[in-house]
Amino acid sequence: MLSTKLLQDKVVLVTGASSGIGAATAALFAKAGANVVLAARRTDKLDAVREACVKANNAGQTGKGGRYASISLDMCDTDHVTKVFSRLPDWGQNVDVLVNNAGLAVGTDRVGDIKADAIDRMLDTNVHGLIHLTQQFVRDFKKRNTGHIINLGSIAGVNSYPGGSVYCASKAALHSFTTALRMELVDTAIRVSEIQPGMVETEFSLVRFRGDQSAADKVYEGIDPLSADDIAEEVVWAASRKPHVNIADVLILPTNQASSYHVSRK
Ligand SMILES: NC(=O)c1ccc[n+]([C@@H]2O[C@H](COP(=O)([O-])OP(=O)(O)OC[C@H]3O[C@@H](n4cnc5c(N)ncnc54)[C@H](OP(=O)(O)O)[C@@H]3O)[C@@H](O)[C@H]2O)c1
Repeated sequence: MLSTKLLQDKVVLVTGASSGIGAATAALFAKAGANVVLAARRTDKLDAVREACVKANNAGQTGKGGRYASISLDMCDTDHVTKVFSRLPDWGQNVDVLVNNAGLAVGTDRVGDIKADAIDRMLDTNVHGLIHLTQQFVRDFKKRNTGHIINLGSIAGVNSYPGGSVYCASKAALHSFTTALRMELVDTAIRVSEIQPGMVETEFSLVRFRGDQSAADKVYEGIDPLSADDIAEEVVWAASRKPHVNIADVLILPTNQASSYHVSRK
């Protein structure tokens, strides 16, 4: 088994930690012995994730980490995001790993029919909020010449699909931003990674279909989608490599998915 020893006692901030990939990632970092700051809007949900982190840490038996904090962070609120350091606990001021995971798709309307608020929510959360937050940490990481930024991209940023124009554009923007940032930081010890999942069964489709559970279930019908744990493993693996190893891009798909729209349903 690959070692996650280098994560012990590190400080990790996970955005969108209240559900899905973020929640699973937080717990796996906790298992590896890292201290984790959990960020999201639904802070009530973060309580359960915090408990999962405690259990995972005990199961990991590293004797390291064990500090968790929940912070309210709305990625669409520029004031929240730009003042993020005032929300971090004292022990969490020196973040080692920033996981930019918060994100969403809203609807599947085609261009011409997309509601203005859906466009704004996707771009504000997935692009503007992520950029504002990253800027805060890049400034801090540069001062300390350390740090790792792990962005949750998507297969949707690699190939677009009808009904996903704005979401796909947001993930393509994330990819361009991530690539440029990696170039800008090439003379530093700061690492920049992008994890690009295919279909992962989380609350993602429920949010996309505005709470319509049957529409969400149809997305995964006849396929064996990825789980949040599958992606958490990739994030924690990328974060736990030796300092001279930067996992740049990881595209991870269910076996029966070959592109955004090429899915085999048995
Ligand atoms: N599921 C997939 O198939 C898939 C595939 C590729 C990429 N991804 C990406 O993976 C990431 C995680 O998605 P997921 O599948 O785990 O979906 P999820 O279960 O719906 O989780 C999304 C998370 O993002 C947070 N979030 C949404 N809007 C936010 C805002 N304005 N401010 C702060 N947090 C916000 C949510 O927290 P609150 O609502 O509590 O704020 C939630 O914790 C996203 O970036 C998504 O685009 C997902």
